[in-house]
Amino acid sequence: MDIKSIIKEEVLAHKAYPIEYTVPPVRLDANENPLALPETLHKEFAARISEISLNRYPEAGSPALARRFAERFGVAEGQVMIGNGSDELIQILCSAVARPGAEVMIPTPTFAMFSITAVNTGCRLVEVPLDGEFDLDVEAMVERMTDHSPALTFLAWPNNPTGRSFSRDRVEAILEKSPGIVVVDEAYHNFFGQTFLPMLAKYDNLVVMRTLSKVGFAAARVGMLAANAALVHELNKVRLPYNLNALSQAAAHFYLDHEEVFLEQAENIRLWREGLYSELLTIKGVHPWRTDANFILFSCDFDSDRIYDALLAGGVLVKNFHTLGKIRNCMRVTAGTPEENKTFTALLKATLQQLGA
Ligand SMILES: Cc1ncc(COP(=O)(O)O)c(C=O)c1O
Repeated sequence: MDIKSIIKEEVLAHKAYPIEYTVPPVRLDANENPLALPETLHKEFAARISEISLNRYPEAGSPALARRFAERFGVAEGQVMIGNGSDELIQILCSAVARPGAEVMIPTPTFAMFSITAVNTGCRLVEVPLDGEFDLDVEAMVERMTDHSPALTFLAWPNNPTGRSFSRDRVEAILEKSPGIVVVDEAYHNFFGQTFLPMLAKYDNLVVMRTLSKVGFAAARVGMLAANAALVHELNKVRLPYNLNALSQAAAHFYLDHEEVFLEQAENIRLWREGLYSELLTIKGVHPWRTDANFILFSCDFDSDRIYDALLAGGVLVKNFHTLGKIRNCMRVTAGTPEENKTFTALLKATLQQLGA
């Protein structure tokens, strides 16, 4: 078989999402919650999981969860869809709009899965660079919308990997001017606090997306989407019937039963992030950007590949953007526990000193 003549050209041409499979002692690369479940909750969780009938299919479409999240979000049950992580919801959205020639607009830099999924589902990508402050260039986006008429626009709010939130009025301007669906991806909502959920009543083209991955349940892969009911009805036709397995559904129910614990953890992480930011400001040779998420992007005066390798050799994993356009030679570090942050900053400082900072 000649694979190259069978696989789509677009797939052959692009790269898979880069994931580091090394597991060093300090993992600050994937924007996860660094804290494990508290001991008492861990036991309760294990008991819950042990009650699941593994011989049965899970509830198709997770209706009980959709009801509970709808209540949390202040919308009707038919306005919510649950996915196998937000990644699956991104895939469902792209698949649903992927008519021949359909276009997906993204500001750049942003979360890599938007472009990877758009291309994999046969959509054409329209990329518009962010401005110098990492905010939306509304004029450029609207101009491209006139030429291209994108069916879907993804806005991560706060944005990953920059950590900045686009100005609210600029997001609203895109919602107003967009001919298609605008997804406001609130993956980092718990570290930011603001939301576009109330705007669902005003904009029928708005989709708000959330995830449990950043607040302590990355292993469960649970994402949520809220939008107008007619749109959710269509998206449900694209969703695989049993997209969320029974263990993950149970994990999401468990999260909702104990949400206050995870919100308190997020609040602590927010404080630890501030400490990490202040510390980074004092380190010669790196320049951090302010952030609204649980991670910090910083530029390096020295080759980020060398810094990355030295950190990894010392047992600390971060994300390296050594070749990526506007954020070339930048790195992203997730806010960990105070101890993890200290290990990271001490190692970073020592590495930069060795490089001549
Ligand atoms: C903006 C954004 N959206 C979505 C995701 C993925 O979320 P999930 O783990 O629910 O697929 C990430 C993960 O890094 C992200 O940064």
